[in-house]
Amino acid sequence: MQTNIEQAKKIIQEADAILITAGSGMGVDSGLPDFRGTAGFWKAYPVIKNLGYSFSEMANPAWFHKDPELAWAFYGHRLNLYRETTPHDGFYMLLDLVKEKNEDYFIYTSNVDGQFQKAGFDEEKILEIHGTIHHFQCTCSKHGIWSAKDEKVEVDMQKFKALNIPKCIECGGTARPNIMMFGDWDWLAKRSDKQEALYNRWIKNIANKKLAIIEIGAGVAIPSVRMKGERISKQHPNATLIRINPRDFEVYLEKDISIPLGGLEGIKQILN
Ligand SMILES: NC(=O)c1ccc[n+]([C@@H]2O[C@H](COP(=O)([O-])OP(=O)(O)OC[C@H]3O[C@@H](n4cnc5c(N)ncnc54)[C@H](O)[C@@H]3O)[C@@H](O)[C@H]2O)c1
Ligand SMILES: [Zn+2]
Repeated sequence: MQTNIEQAKKIIQEADAILITAGSGMGVDSGLPDFRGTAGFWKAYPVIKNLGYSFSEMANPAWFHKDPELAWAFYGHRLNLYRETTPHDGFYMLLDLVKEKNEDYFIYTSNVDGQFQKAGFDEEKILEIHGTIHHFQCTCSKHGIWSAKDEKVEVDMQKFKALNIPKCIECGGTARPNIMMFGDWDWLAKRSDKQEALYNRWIKNIANKKLAIIEIGAGVAIPSVRMKGERISKQHPNATLIRINPRDFEVYLEKDISIPLGGLEGIKQILN
């Protein structure tokens, strides 16, 4: 492992640009749960275990129509949890790194928790491919997307019911987070599309630069984040993927680097 760490350090030192790709494992060292498998999900939500729903069943937009109090118990609790969470030191070490690289960076994440923004990364340099919990939209999908900063959701965790249901600012219908859920035809992609346009422009501009892709805590169940880094590394002769993950740490290209550690420890090791 020491060799991998040394290699990663060198790649990062020599890089002109940094792409940080992150899945829910990035939040684990800040105290947030990942949802690794149904067992992992139920460990984070014993109440949902009693109901017998998997993550994909729970993260389904149909609940906002069938049982908004249950839907908002799940998302309201997560909204409150992410609001209360302080990003771990790894976020700030990465922030220092991208400052050293003249802010030539982008964040590509499936996380909906807003922790990169909270740590001070530039809003214009973050692509949230699955949306965010910190913005809401209408369940009918016909109205806009708005910031949730003035919204409060109270949850009775014993009964697993929301005590209030956020409403659409235009029609008064049930609101929902602007998160892409499972079997979701109503998710409004406008905000993520704008982020994606900025990301596409950036990745095109750095085509001839040395790129270090630092991936932290991206899972295998929905591998969009992993595949993004793997593909760029494969297509881009000057790119190297550094994969930090305590369990799913394998890499497939000779040039890519595996760091089988947790997020905070892995970041510390490669940036020290
Ligand atoms: N915080 C969030 O925003 C959040 C949380 C859970 C799920 N989700 C959503 O659920 C889906 C699940 O995707 P996923 O692949 O991110 O999660 P996942 O739960 O499937 O996988 C988590 C990954 O993190 C790794 N991990 C565990 N502990 C770690 C640590 N201390 N440091 C670094 N890595 C660690 C695991 O080995 C695993 O590979 C996504 O669509 C995502 O939008 C989001
Ligand atoms: Zn509406």
